[in-house]
Amino acid sequence: MKLKIAVLSGDGIGPEVTNQAIKILKAIEQVFSHQFEFQKALVGAIAIDSTGNPLPVETLKLCSESDAVLFGAIGDPKYDNNPDAKVRPEQGLLRLRKELGLFANIRPIKAFDSLIEKSPLKRNIIEGTDMVIFRELTGGIYFGEKKLSDDGKIASDLCEYSQLEIERIAHLAFKSAQIRRKKLTLVDKANVLETSRLWRRVVTNLAQEYPDVLLDFLFVDNAAMQMILNPRQFDVILTENLFGDIISDEGSVIGGSIGLLASASIGHHNAMFEPIHGSYPQAKGKNIANPIAAILSAAMLLEHFGLKQESEVVHKAVEEALEMNIVTPDLNVVRSFSTDYVGDFITTIILNGTENSYCNLENISLGKSSLI
Ligand code: IPM
Ligand code: MN
Repeated sequence: MKLKIAVLSGDGIGPEVTNQAIKILKAIEQVFSHQFEFQKALVGAIAIDSTGNPLPVETLKLCSESDAVLFGAIGDPKYDNNPDAKVRPEQGLLRLRKELGLFANIRPIKAFDSLIEKSPLKRNIIEGTDMVIFRELTGGIYFGEKKLSDDGKIASDLCEYSQLEIERIAHLAFKSAQIRRKKLTLVDKANVLETSRLWRRVVTNLAQEYPDVLLDFLFVDNAAMQMILNPRQFDVILTENLFGDIISDEGSVIGGSIGLLASASIGHHNAMFEPIHGSYPQAKGKNIANPIAAILSAAMLLEHFGLKQESEVVHKAVEEALEMNIVTPDLNVVRSFSTDYVGDFITTIILNGTENSYCNLENISLGKSSLI
């Protein structure tokens, strides 16, 4: 398969982790004889620094002409601490989502067996957790009208949703539930918010088209509690933009590290793949950030284009690295490896397979591999 992939590695640890995802895609390209063409472009703080714009015109053009976008991370403390900043790196990501029409953000959350002890939550709570969050990504309070009074003392953000915006993501969530455990939970705040009541009406109507899926509802405050009290109860969660942002970070605790969570953002014409973690500026350039979320985002890219076997090969290689404890410091403070090292290790497994490359792997884990 031929794929044109725009690479927007962005800020902080973005470039380091995205490089590992590219290595993995190149290994898959080689093993399965595909043709992937990568083209880099600027986004975020780095784009502001060199062009004044967090989403330069050329970047948007490249993304809309590509089959997929591989995204790193965005954000820089020099903007976070300045509430008066007129331009912010995050605007680049938000505009990109809006301009490309990426309305559905899909965030799988799984408890990896080999990492259960790494989670601050107890084994008996998280074991076997396997859920996916469908977060609406181009509407709601993120994109509603924003106001600040002339005297700077009153501010507001409008939360608005249309039936159409709800339906298009709800269809995707129902379809996903159909091929999973057939349960869909709508997370909202329908006891208070009019938009949430619209979500309930629209999703309840749509449920008639998916009679094999069990639909239930949870208020977001209760959902936040249930996520860490009994996460196994969830299969597919459907929710609006801000609630999805918050509960997906919460869900990352189940996996043991936010450095493991991948996401896909899907629209009718474009698709983007990005780790859910931020730019982690404290780790920038230190070669310590966990590349697995970026690598699993590349796996979601492969799956999106129907390359299921390829995606499984990446997942297997990642699991192998986790089982052999070839992980970055967020997952093992005593014996940890660098970002590059973990990326190289996973690449080697993809290229050689575990059985055939046993010696090579042993060398890598002893720090002797020529790859490092
Ligand atoms: C995310 C991030 C973004 C969001 C930020 C960087 C704008 O937190 O992708 O979850 O809030 O959507
Ligand atoms: Mn977030």
